[in-house]
Amino acid sequence: MCHLGGLKGQNEIPRLANQHYDYTFKQLTDFKARNRTNDAGNMTSVAKTLSDEDIINISHYIATLD
Ligand code: HEM
Repeated sequence: MCHLGGLKGQNEIPRLANQHYDYTFKQLTDFKARNRTNDAGNMTSVAKTLSDEDIINISHYIATLD
C-alpha cells in the first residue's frame, strides 16, 4: 500500500527493494524501539507488529528484490 509493488517506493515513501540487509534490519529495529521517529508514526505502528524473526526475514527478503 505504501512502498508499492516490488517495494520500489513512491514520493516521500522510500524505495526498499535491494536495500542492504544490515540497513533494513537496523531501520526496522530502530522504528520498533522508537529510536527512529521521523516517520509520522507510520512505521512505528507497523514495526511494533513485527517479531524479531519477522524483521530478520523481511530484511533478507528486501535485499533479494531488484
Ligand atoms: C512490513 C511492512 C513494511 C516494511 C518492511 C517497511 C520498511 C521500511 C523501511 C526499512 C523504511 C526506512 C527506509 C529508509 O530509511 O530508506 C521505511 C520507511 C517508511 N515507511 Fe515503511 N515499511 C512497511 C510498511 C509501511 C506502511 C504500511 C507505511 C504507510 C502507512 C509505510 C510508510 C513509510 C514511510 C512514510 C517511511 C519514511 C519515513 C521517513 O520519512 O523517513 N511503511 N519503511
